Amino acid sequence: MNVILIGFMGCGKSTIGVKLSYRMRQALLDTDKLVEKNAGCSIKEIFEREGEDSFRQKEHAVLEKLLEEGGKNYIIATGGGLPIQENNRPLLKKLGKVVYLRVTPETVYARLKHDKTRPLLQGDNPQEKINHLMAERQHAYEQAADYIVDVDGKSFEQILTDITEKVQ
Ligand code: S3P
Repeated sequence: MNVILIGFMGCGKSTIGVKLSYRMRQALLDTDKLVEKNAGCSIKEIFEREGEDSFRQKEHAVLEKLLEEGGKNYIIATGGGLPIQENNRPLLKKLGKVVYLRVTPETVYARLKHDKTRPLLQGDNPQEKINHLMAERQHAYEQAADYIVDVDGKSFEQILTDITEKVQ
């Protein structure tokens, strides 16, 4: 069974994905990395050259391809905006068990205040951007999720246990 990790930027999808991949002995895929591989450049460059809409199309295409290929035993880390596109949500459900890693805006800010790789958080007031985007997205994450795991204040060990208890 595929296990899909969704959640806001900085919630730990990629890091937890790596650890979960070892724990469950399932190979890891990362939609951001697949988009970058297909495009031959970074997400930052895609946003700069072609804009967000183009990135969203590439992200959707990656999801469709994963479904088409029919792989069943992966851990799949996703980009933070992927479940926000409504047409992606039924595809995620078809692809596997969807786990929402829920994080507070304070934790995201602490982790990403110096980040330069996420186009949506650049500019004057990243904290404000995080608060706003998260409030806007919360509902979509909950809708997309089969399970919700709160990550704030928990060790990786605890988070992995929470995830595996839910999906197994
Ligand atoms: C985005 C999240 C990023 C990446 C892109 C857009 C978003 O992935 O897909 O910068 O819209 O939340 P991470 O969640 O891995 O940072």
